[in-house]
Amino acid sequence: MCGIIGYIGQNDVAKKILHNLKKLEYRGYDSSGICLKKNNTLFVKKSVGEISNLQSKININFNSHVGIAHTRWATHGKVNVTNTHPHISQDKMWAVVHNGIIENYLEITKQLKEKGIHLYSETDSEVIANLMAISQKQNNALKLHEVTTLLHGSYALCLINAKEETLYIARRHSPLYVAHKDDACMVSSDPACFSEDFHDYYVLPDECIATVNSDGVTFYDQNMKILHLTPCEIGTFEKSSELGKYSYYAEKEISEIPHVLNDIILNYQTVDHFKHINKSFLKHIKSIKLIGCGTAYHACMIGAKYLEKFTKIEANAYIASEFRYQNPMVDKNTLCIFLSQSGETADTLLSLELAKSKGAKTLAIVNVPYSSIARNADIVLPLCAGIEIAVMSTKAYNAMLMVLYLLSVHIANINNDFSLTFPSEVKYINFFKNIEKIDEISDLVLKSDKTFFIGRGEDYVTALEAGLKLKEITYINCVSLPSGELKHGTISLIDKKSLVFVISTDEKLLSKNLTSASEIKARGGKIVLVTNLDVQDNKDVDYIYKIDRPKEEISSILSVIPFQVLAYKTCLKKGYSPDKPRNLAKSVTVE
Ligand code: F6R
Repeated sequence: MCGIIGYIGQNDVAKKILHNLKKLEYRGYDSSGICLKKNNTLFVKKSVGEISNLQSKININFNSHVGIAHTRWATHGKVNVTNTHPHISQDKMWAVVHNGIIENYLEITKQLKEKGIHLYSETDSEVIANLMAISQKQNNALKLHEVTTLLHGSYALCLINAKEETLYIARRHSPLYVAHKDDACMVSSDPACFSEDFHDYYVLPDECIATVNSDGVTFYDQNMKILHLTPCEIGTFEKSSELGKYSYYAEKEISEIPHVLNDIILNYQTVDHFKHINKSFLKHIKSIKLIGCGTAYHACMIGAKYLEKFTKIEANAYIASEFRYQNPMVDKNTLCIFLSQSGETADTLLSLELAKSKGAKTLAIVNVPYSSIARNADIVLPLCAGIEIAVMSTKAYNAMLMVLYLLSVHIANINNDFSLTFPSEVKYINFFKNIEKIDEISDLVLKSDKTFFIGRGEDYVTALEAGLKLKEITYINCVSLPSGELKHGTISLIDKKSLVFVISTDEKLLSKNLTSASEIKARGGKIVLVTNLDVQDNKDVDYIYKIDRPKEEISSILSVIPFQVLAYKTCLKKGYSPDKPRNLAKSVTVE
């Protein structure tokens, strides 16, 4: 979603800002803009589409020592140049870039209009620059503080004033980070941007503001008391964002899956991440709720199955945006587990706050170690998947399933069931068995009018995830459902141009799935059976795709891989970009 860069330096400020703005591309955006200060004047350039369009409008050697820039993912108002940030106050003294949503912007707009201030854009952000311009407080830090008290909703803000070489920053429920060294300072909504030029960075605390200039960073709390913070070191996570030999991040990240899974097992064997999940922590836990969005929600569904099966504690999965509004049955005897790759998904973060307010024990499973969800949960389990850049989440999903498996084994062991152990043999698994055949299967998808994914139990979840992957990067409309539900409605769609993937990795459910295959075949549909079981040729199945069969009960971690590759290959055949699908953002920081 939207991204922020602010920079102060002696040389190459425009160049540095654009270079770092490009690092935010992966988060998804529709337009971008920059504001540079020179001779007490703010110069703004904006462009719709790729950052390269903006780049072509800028003189890279423009002599400025301070600037701000933004990638906008439209929420309020169309994708056009006027709505693109930075926004300038009517008196041309303030420029602002904003991530988040100002809920009371219409009310503020009305008040500003009454004062004779004209607003040009349809955004909720332009009001902020104008509120700064009309504030009567005696210094700019106090003005920013006053303005934040007037804003409802969420924000990460970075502002500059035409007369100063200072960045003014503030945040509420939307992340913002700042780094400082002798000759430069940088503000970003993503700390991965700091890895080239800085050794460490600060997390701006929620509801706080800061001023950033060549003398350093001054942090203020809600009462304008100065805060002394400890910086975070830039770790390998922030540094691992190079594409290397791959054409796309999606390809790179899928290929990293075996390595990531092995790393997780080694990491969890050597570091005691579970040390706080002990007998006393679990003593009064009566139920477990797993909460996430999209792919992370699918991981929650598998996690609930692992946990219930291994620990015999009731476990259920919830979509975060639903969980928040259903008055969930959560109290001090509930363990709420939040899953998120980015650790910033607004609905998941706000669900975490809701669960905490109801007294639940909270555990976060996140990939981004410094994220808001990681900082707010009682206990954090790292995904150890390395940075994920492609919007389509792949390796993070497999990693979530592995961490959930290890967690379930750990809780089972605490409850004296020692029959389960951590998987030891992932290095012997052929994760990409028969992967070359996906090319042919992708042609089947392209030739079909309708694509379906069906399965039972964990395979149903794989069907959901397979459908989500295909939809999000190929724009093919497809349907995922439990095999048993077909005849309750959806089978009416099946005809000769239908392709149905039947996923079957559980011996007990194979015959049921094959019955569903026969029902589809009888109506002219084409069947691809994806299985790790010994299936003889079957007249109702057009194509059998065999995946490897692990010793442990981790087949869902494997069975999704052909579908991740299928989405990737089909996307390339359709000529789309697998890393940056339209309308989507990597980090969904708005509700
Ligand atoms: C799908 C995808 C999304 C995310 C979802 C949650 O490929 O990327 O469905 O899984 O937006 O994001 P996180 O895991 O960052 O909370």
